[in-house]
Amino acid sequence: MAKVLILIFLALSIRANCTQLIEYCRKPPALFVFGDSFFDPGNNNYIKTTTLDQANFWPYGETYFKYPTGRFSDGRLISDFIAEHAKLPLIPPYLQPRDYDKVYCGANFASAGAGVLPETFQGAVIDLRTQLKYFEKEVNAAQLRKKVGAFDSKMILSNAVFLFSIGTNDYISPFVLKNSSMLPSHQEYIAMVIGNLTQVVKAVYKRGGRKFGFLNLGDLGCLPGLRISKPQNGSGCLEEASILAKLHNEALQNVLNKMKNHLKGFKYSLYDFNTFLRQILNHPSRYGFKEGEKACCGSGRYNGIFSCGGKRGVKEFELCKNPNEFIFWDSYHLTESVYKKMARQMWYGPSKGPYNLTQFFQCL
Ligand SMILES: *[C@@H]1O[C@H](CO)[C@@H](O)[C@H](O)[C@H]1NC(C)=O
Ligand SMILES: *[C@@H]1O[C@H](CO)[C@@H](O)[C@H](O)[C@H]1NC(C)=O
Ligand SMILES: *[C@@H]1O[C@H](CO)[C@@H](O)[C@H](O)[C@H]1NC(C)=O
Ligand SMILES: *[C@@H]1O[C@H](CO)[C@@H](O)[C@H](O)[C@H]1NC(C)=O
Ligand SMILES: *[C@@H]1O[C@H](CO)[C@@H](O)[C@H](O)[C@H]1NC(C)=O
Repeated sequence: MAKVLILIFLALSIRANCTQLIEYCRKPPALFVFGDSFFDPGNNNYIKTTTLDQANFWPYGETYFKYPTGRFSDGRLISDFIAEHAKLPLIPPYLQPRDYDKVYCGANFASAGAGVLPETFQGAVIDLRTQLKYFEKEVNAAQLRKKVGAFDSKMILSNAVFLFSIGTNDYISPFVLKNSSMLPSHQEYIAMVIGNLTQVVKAVYKRGGRKFGFLNLGDLGCLPGLRISKPQNGSGCLEEASILAKLHNEALQNVLNKMKNHLKGFKYSLYDFNTFLRQILNHPSRYGFKEGEKACCGSGRYNGIFSCGGKRGVKEFELCKNPNEFIFWDSYHLTESVYKKMARQMWYGPSKGPYNLTQFFQCL
């Protein structure tokens, strides 16, 4: 009898904590976002040194927002759609001045062009370690703790979902900058990227984070911007970049499993971005697309020259009429239509990890 009562009491107290959280963000958990252009809602608008990795000009944002927000697409990004699925408001850029109100919904630190390694597009982006510093700042001194008290901020973090999209830029930068001396050996380079990524994830875990959502990397050699950097100008994808992505993806899955086995309470979800992108590139029409090689916006072969908007040196660029028919929005980024489909899959599963995002946004 006593045992049963204790069990009921335990069940009630766990439930009570979940409900408490619901007060803070109507529909918790909070969402913390790290990474690159697949998630950046405009943090790079606040970089003063260079405009190279900015997208705060027309035609970026033309379909959904009707104005350029800084997102590298015609509309919303994967992270925006995840927020929508979770019934959270769109999470604004961390660097955008904001007011904090009663509810705490999270923060977005992502920066277009960013990689795991600080050397990746150094000076033009906010690398992952700096993003981690911003996160520490956010949790520490700032609003989280002041607003809701230490105990509750711990609860918020352990229930929060931490999304990461990172790595693409580490592997494409040597090709984009045409500097292959940046790639010592593939295995070494991948170990460096995965090693540094692991340190950042562990730092968030140490802070109280438990639910981690990742994307693996796409066939990078098929990005229009890399197709055109093929040494011999044939068609087809740049094999070497795609191989790097494939090796990185294997290493990522391994290290996530290791952390799951060694860190108590560590949970992860891993979206197979690679497989889905390959499927739609191979069969665009099956998914409602008309063009899977050429970007909607840019210039040169495949519109692979990174000139969309005319503000990065090259003034001339071509813009398609209907971005919904295209997989690639510009030389390196996807259209809102693709991001929307991907977010749906991340939400409903399947996942290459033990969890999908639906599960993460319930009270685990
Ligand atoms: C729920 O909250 C109470 C205090 O209100 C705390 O003692 C208990 O450990 C919490 N339960 C969980 C599962 O965090
Ligand atoms: C290529 O990368 C290496 C290593 O990061 C660097 O030392 C060198 O200056 C770069 N070369 C060019 C031309 O950018
Ligand atoms: C992290 O990256 C740096 C280069 O930026 C490298 O020297 C270091 O060995 C990496 N750390 C790990 C743990 O892999
Ligand atoms: C490569 O492209 C250039 C310019 O489009 C062309 O002049 C040249 O003949 C091409 N070379 C090969 C081997 O196809
Ligand atoms: C995703 O999670 C939901 C909620 O637990 C579950 O019903 C669904 O089966 C999962 N989907 C996949 C493909 O694992």
